[in-house]
Amino acid sequence: MAPILTATDLSRHYEIPRGSFRNPATLKALRGATFTLEPGKTLAIVGESGCGKSTLARLVTLIEEPTSGDLIIDNDNVKLADAATRRKIQRKVQIIFQDPYGSLNPRQKIGRALEEPLLVNTEQSRKKRQHAAFAMLEQVGLQPEHYDRYPHMFSGGQRQRIAVARALMLHPEILVLDEPVSALDVSIQAQILNLLADLQDEYNLAYLFISHDLSVVHHIADEVMVMYLGSPVEYTSRDELFSHPRHPYTRALLSATPVADPFRTKERIMLRGELPSPINPPTGCAFHPRCPEVMDICRSSSPELLDIGPCRIACHAVTG
Ligand SMILES: Nc1ncnc2c1ncn2[C@@H]1O[C@H](COP(=O)(O)OP(=O)(O)OP(=O)(O)O)[C@@H](O)[C@H]1O
Ligand SMILES: [Mg+2]
Repeated sequence: MAPILTATDLSRHYEIPRGSFRNPATLKALRGATFTLEPGKTLAIVGESGCGKSTLARLVTLIEEPTSGDLIIDNDNVKLADAATRRKIQRKVQIIFQDPYGSLNPRQKIGRALEEPLLVNTEQSRKKRQHAAFAMLEQVGLQPEHYDRYPHMFSGGQRQRIAVARALMLHPEILVLDEPVSALDVSIQAQILNLLADLQDEYNLAYLFISHDLSVVHHIADEVMVMYLGSPVEYTSRDELFSHPRHPYTRALLSATPVADPFRTKERIMLRGELPSPINPPTGCAFHPRCPEVMDICRSSSPELLDIGPCRIACHAVTG
């Protein structure tokens, strides 16, 4: 199937001020992210805190501009888009955050919150907007009486349902989900994940699903991209990643997760040292100071993400 989103070599740098007498430092939050999203499919993005997952989410939702690289959404190149086209693209890509409380106005009733995107973006009558809001409440498993309630009157799981409902009001093609269930109890997590799966089937939605929880990723993803210090290091199907993880970093992440294969006796791979700063990343392969399989070449040469058939991988030890 043709992708709904194609990202090529997306990068995002931030200038960090260092006082009046020094030039600002450059923090490379995202470097060379290349991937595609297909309708009806879920690409999961995993990696440690600070590896650039939310930065990627901000680029894909047009909240921020990439420093370089290309983003094509439903055949429109974002870089070349005029204001009207940008608005059209923005409607197609909606985002859901970990904490829906932060994105809901505490003084606004839920019905109004759901209708607002229609009010701003369409010419629909009040009655039609109201009808759409009630239909969406039902669709995400909420009740008609919730229409007149305020955000603080809901549980965390219900609030996340409201966030999902609001994101769907404009019938987007892509949902970016930034740790959408990390703040919820495990039993509520499963309900929200099931809801997301049902909605994906019904609307053929493409999901960019950001999570640090590999058991959640195992449950929901079709493909997985593992990131380290701003760069993708392994990108493959969910089944391939969990059955044959190739990058030493992926293997270390998986060894710390009970889900992958309960019957395999695994040794926990401990990573040496701390995650380095993206302001001053290590030379060569950014992972080399912590890598259990480090070789000489890793210290001087940065491995490219190469397609080796079953996966794309950036590792000298794997690609030779
Ligand atoms: N506006 C900004 N200005 C400067 N640095 C930033 C900015 N936004 C993000 N960063 C830096 O970019 C890097 C990537 O941040 P990002 O929020 O994308 O990480 P993340 O993978 O989402 O982490 P987490 O799992 O903790 O949410 C971090 O080092 C962060 O400090
Ligand atoms: Mg984040």
